[in-house]
Amino acid sequence: MTDAWSQRAEAFRESPMHREGPDLDLLVEWCDPGHGVKVLDVATGGGHVARRLREHGCTVVTVDPAPGMGPDVVSSAEELPFQDGSFDVVTCRIAAHHFQDIRGAIAEMARVAQHLVVIEDNVFSDERVEEAERLRDPTHVRCYSEKEWKEMLAEGGLEVEQLEHFERHPVVDDWLARVQTPPAAAERVRELLADHTHDGVLTLKSIVVRARRSQK
Ligand SMILES: C[S@@+](CC[C@H](N)C(=O)[O-])C[C@H]1O[C@@H](n2cnc3c(N)ncnc32)[C@H](O)[C@@H]1O
Repeated sequence: MTDAWSQRAEAFRESPMHREGPDLDLLVEWCDPGHGVKVLDVATGGGHVARRLREHGCTVVTVDPAPGMGPDVVSSAEELPFQDGSFDVVTCRIAAHHFQDIRGAIAEMARVAQHLVVIEDNVFSDERVEEAERLRDPTHVRCYSEKEWKEMLAEGGLEVEQLEHFERHPVVDDWLARVQTPPAAAERVRELLADHTHDGVLTLKSIVVRARRSQK
């Protein structure tokens, strides 16, 4: 998994739907950014969340298991090498569907956050989309519904304060090329996603969630 992501680093740094968008704007706003705010960006990938938060004066530490992504700390979300409450805010954008142990990762993000955990991820649509996602990129594990997210965050000791749905619209060819899906698999992915594709443009649904550490 780690090597696959390192090889994709440049593609994810340059990807328009990762670099910018109203979903990224809202995620940044929900972090209450400012000078002196300490943030941990988990699964930082091309580092777009970290870049934006630093522009607001935050002190950001980035984590990713893929060394090629150039994170400050090489680590998976399921095992964060930080003490309890080390950061004001923990962010994690468009990555949780790759985590092998989503509940373990949520518990870790809640543990190292003092106040807020702000997450964006692709939201569960149907099993055909899940099959397409796995064929496109074997590192895909699963997307979760809004209900599942709320349950998992509550189990992890996090209270959902705000939640908003978004649509992103990648060009299918670019979306497949970014992870170098082999041609035969790509053909099947196109078939599976026919209902979600118009004129070669895909509709991907995501949610942004702002959750606060529950008072114990
Ligand atoms: C789509 S990229 C992240 C995008 C980035 N957060 C952004 O906003 O542009 C997914 C990232 O998840 C990372 N990843 C995969 N499995 C992970 C895990 N178990 N824990 C933490 N990061 C993981 C990959 O290395 C990759 O960099």
